[in-house]
Amino acid sequence: MCLAALMACLPGAAQDNITINVKANKPGSPVEKTMYGIFFEDINYAADGGLYAELVKNRSFEFTPDHLMGWQAFGNVAILKDGPFEKNPHYARLASAGHPDRWTGLQNEGFFGIGLHKDADYRFSVWARVPEGKAQMLRIQLIDEYSNDNNQELVQSDIIVSSKEWKRYTTTLKSPKTIDKAQLRIFLCTEKGRSGDGVCDVEHVSLFPADTWKGHENGMRKDLAQALYDLHPGVFRFPGGCIVEGTTLDNRYQWKNSIGPVENRPYNKNRWESTFTYRYYPDYFQSYGLGFYEYFLLSEEIGAEPLPVLNVGMACQFQNWNQESAHVPCTLNDLQPYIDDCNDLIEFANGDAASTWGKIRAEMGHPEPFNLKFLAIGNEQWGKFYFDRLKIVAGAVHKAHPEIKLIGTSGPDSEGENFDLGWEAMRKQKVDLVDEHFYRPIDWFLNNMNRYDNYDRKGPKVFAGEYACHDKGKKWNHAGASIYEAAFMTGLERNADIVHMATYAPLFAHVKGWQWRPDLIWFDNLRVAKSVSYHVQALYAQNKGTNVLPSAQSAITPKGEDGIFSSAVFDAEKEEYIVKIANTTTNSKSICIKMEGLKSISEARQITLDCSDYDKENTVESPFAVTPQEKSIPTEGNTINLTIGGKHFIVVKVKK
Ligand code: AHR
Repeated sequence: MCLAALMACLPGAAQDNITINVKANKPGSPVEKTMYGIFFEDINYAADGGLYAELVKNRSFEFTPDHLMGWQAFGNVAILKDGPFEKNPHYARLASAGHPDRWTGLQNEGFFGIGLHKDADYRFSVWARVPEGKAQMLRIQLIDEYSNDNNQELVQSDIIVSSKEWKRYTTTLKSPKTIDKAQLRIFLCTEKGRSGDGVCDVEHVSLFPADTWKGHENGMRKDLAQALYDLHPGVFRFPGGCIVEGTTLDNRYQWKNSIGPVENRPYNKNRWESTFTYRYYPDYFQSYGLGFYEYFLLSEEIGAEPLPVLNVGMACQFQNWNQESAHVPCTLNDLQPYIDDCNDLIEFANGDAASTWGKIRAEMGHPEPFNLKFLAIGNEQWGKFYFDRLKIVAGAVHKAHPEIKLIGTSGPDSEGENFDLGWEAMRKQKVDLVDEHFYRPIDWFLNNMNRYDNYDRKGPKVFAGEYACHDKGKKWNHAGASIYEAAFMTGLERNADIVHMATYAPLFAHVKGWQWRPDLIWFDNLRVAKSVSYHVQALYAQNKGTNVLPSAQSAITPKGEDGIFSSAVFDAEKEEYIVKIANTTTNSKSICIKMEGLKSISEARQITLDCSDYDKENTVESPFAVTPQEKSIPTEGNTINLTIGGKHFIVVKVKK
């Protein structure tokens, strides 16, 4: 061993020399497979306008109060409501503009425009009929309305509608250029392409990129789904969040509305439309095109355990000032539909293809069960209203399905009276996990690095279901906050015996349509940016190991007084030892990692995330400003000596 390395490992060495003794031969508590997951909520246009690849806004003419929201109508257009889809009855009637030089049609603005990629194919579809029997042509165009070229249209295709009955018509358009703010224009024409001289009804007007995630027709945006897959999430919590509760109970997320043919999934206003008057989005609705079937399928495809959250018979307590009256008409005697929703969902996910709900899943394309293991009842609830309702709903679900692990919540506070009461009630009700939420400042993170060290090991396990470091006055994803998340997560890892799930929140945000930040992944109509926090999450999820190395807890510099926080795991499958170290100070530190129990190390690699440039962030314009860098590092016997920069997070991977 060289002199410098020897000095670094000597007790009483200089203050900045820190020794981490890892008892490599004593793997301890298993790290749950569900660790480091994702929490999806349709906030910040995460679903419609985001992950859900549909490019047409208000495709079924169901937005209110204006059924043509998102559309510009020209010529002779009327909205009628006796359409072919019972739950979405409105449609548009296009009729002759009355003069050969006047035109009738519709133009859709998409979500902050329609993003098109050069040479990519786009699948257009529409349900249509000609009620008078006179064939009409629909000229479908993708346009750049603000183009200075001679023609606004980028590409066009014609569809002849000749049936009096409703039918689905499709065509594919190839975009000749990349543009983030195209629009969809539909002209009513005669079969010869002149101004339409008859009547044509149109409903469920849809445009998807042909190249979706896994090629699903009702699919996800490929780049955004890929970003989820790349995280290697252990669990996938959906669909919220506050949208589970709704502003009022009738506005809650009802999963049964989100399955079956997309044309007949009823629209629901998104409660994030009106949550903040300073970021107000009157056109924010949920089409439920991304519904529970798609959530389960996506969970399967990204390798995460599905974790649905269902309503417990309560509207959002925040939005209703915690008034009991908000939950009327759901008194304690009215909970049967909520119990049915839970039990039916379990059947939808796990029942055989002959069962009532399993049959619907099978018809949708997935005869095999989704193997649901967890169910959360209630989102971010607190107080007696919740405890009383949970007792009834969870009691009935547990009776019918003891195999399902149930998750309750300790509410929105990270500590304090409501939090304590929540935990007490969850213990009494014997839920399997408690969902804790903490959007908190840096100081809180610093004071909570050891939060779980002394949690009661006998009660429910912990699900850190929503958390993020919100730096005061700096609510965006800058590197300076992410280092505290990395440091805090060493505490999640060290306490793997009690912390079984953890999901950063929120997950997605459209740069032009956000209501809440910071968020894990930002996107616009063409691009995606993984935040620095994303890389922290990914480094944990991709290197979670199979067992905690418990000696790390005692021998690692105990309480992080020196600003260094660390944890270690063993990965039995890869036969790899992984040490994570976060330096929350601005100074570099010398670190000596001693792999006790190993005679030698054959290979060591270090992945570094440099968070030292405090305000630096990854944006859609500059998505790779802060990314992890990997290199091989030298070893001596069973020891590694390295220097960790100020505000750096490193993952050291060791093979014996
Ligand atoms: O993640 C944003 C919101 O924060 C969630 O909807 C809610 O559960 C919490 O208040």
